[in-house]
Amino acid sequence: MIRKIAVVGAGTMGHGIAEVAALSGFEVALIDVSWDFLNRAKERITDSLNKLAEKKQINDPNAVLQKIEFNTSYDIAKDADFAIEAVPEKLELKKTVFKTLDSVMGSHAILATNTSSIPISDIAEATGRKQKVIGMHFFNPPVIMKLVEVIPSKYTDQDTVDKTVELAKKMNKIPVSLKYEIPGFVSNRIFIRLLQEACREVEDKEATIEEVDSTARNKLKLPMGLFELADYVGLDVVVDIWNVLTTRGTPDVKCSMFKAKVEEKNLGVKSGKGFYAYPAPGKYAKVQLPDSSKVDPSRLISLAVNEASWMVENGIVSAKDVDTVMIYGFNFPKGLMEMADEVGLDNILRNLEDIYSKGYQAYKPTNLIKSLVSEGKTGKNKGEGFHKY
Ligand code: 3HC
Repeated sequence: MIRKIAVVGAGTMGHGIAEVAALSGFEVALIDVSWDFLNRAKERITDSLNKLAEKKQINDPNAVLQKIEFNTSYDIAKDADFAIEAVPEKLELKKTVFKTLDSVMGSHAILATNTSSIPISDIAEATGRKQKVIGMHFFNPPVIMKLVEVIPSKYTDQDTVDKTVELAKKMNKIPVSLKYEIPGFVSNRIFIRLLQEACREVEDKEATIEEVDSTARNKLKLPMGLFELADYVGLDVVVDIWNVLTTRGTPDVKCSMFKAKVEEKNLGVKSGKGFYAYPAPGKYAKVQLPDSSKVDPSRLISLAVNEASWMVENGIVSAKDVDTVMIYGFNFPKGLMEMADEVGLDNILRNLEDIYSKGYQAYKPTNLIKSLVSEGKTGKNKGEGFHKY
């Protein structure tokens, strides 16, 4: 039975995860290396709880806050039953955190990582309980986004997977479990593919940044434009995930804009400037975009749909799971596969073949897309595509 949760790292994700845990009734131990970070986390949690109270979603913000103990010492994690690590994406740092958690926490405790890019098996190897180490991937902002990806490493046992899924549900989240770990999981593989096509269109001078984002927001009805979302997530985080995918075998799409922004230290919302300018560092405000745009939505999602169909073809997740990930992890108004079925898989295939013919290897259409199109299952208006209608 899980009663107390330790969260290590009180930054953007960690403070939100601690808040979610407290909101769902757990005792929480929030640990970070300095009181500056912890005090900042306390302020952010208080602001967020006050917002929820204003909207009458909770009655007593203070009672929720009281459930969280803040400290720089791991002593407060001693009696916790589950840990969630959300420190910066550095393997050596994560290994140190896991070694420490392994030494202070009871042998029954599960140790989860919120990493979006580091192999979970590598982190598990720092502990003496590799079978009890798992990926539990939340989305920003954790209080709002409903999805949690559950990722077993090559060592994780089924009991750990089951308990993590159960915990995610108790935290009022919607879990999607991957069959096995792949770099970037489902969410970030799709996210990076969307950004790669967005970047290719701009760098190949097919469209401007604002036109791409206008189609994303106004035609696909996404909550943010793609460059806007990259700014929101943090361009350094995006580049880290991008590098992990390409160094671990995913065919790259050459794009220099993202790396250049990071080199200029324009990291997006967190630094106040990225592809767009924001009111202040850390303060997000919706960006201004043109109402209409020539960017074709089926072209913009084509590479992401190809990636998703590769995951379906390889049995990692179902088409329905892909849709759950995009709806609850990114607030898409509908799933990516459903969007593909709406724009027509024949259109997706045509765009993939066109871009592939320009020399971009990553756009090589999967057998799944090719066979669906050749069988006439091109989407909603034919009654079948990735889904049946
Ligand atoms: N605490 C409490 N409430 C919050 C909040 C917080 N931290 N942040 C936002 N809210 C509430 C607001 O109060 C508002 O409530 P209301 O509608 O009742 O007034 C509501 O959420 C919407 O917020 P805003 O009005 O400030 O702004 P928007 O309407 O633009 O919504 C957004 C903001 C929810 C972030 C929306 O733009 C969105 O869904 N964007 C997509 C986010 C996304 O895709 N995240 C995933 C990123 S990828 C990732 O995290 C994985 C990693 O590995 C990279």
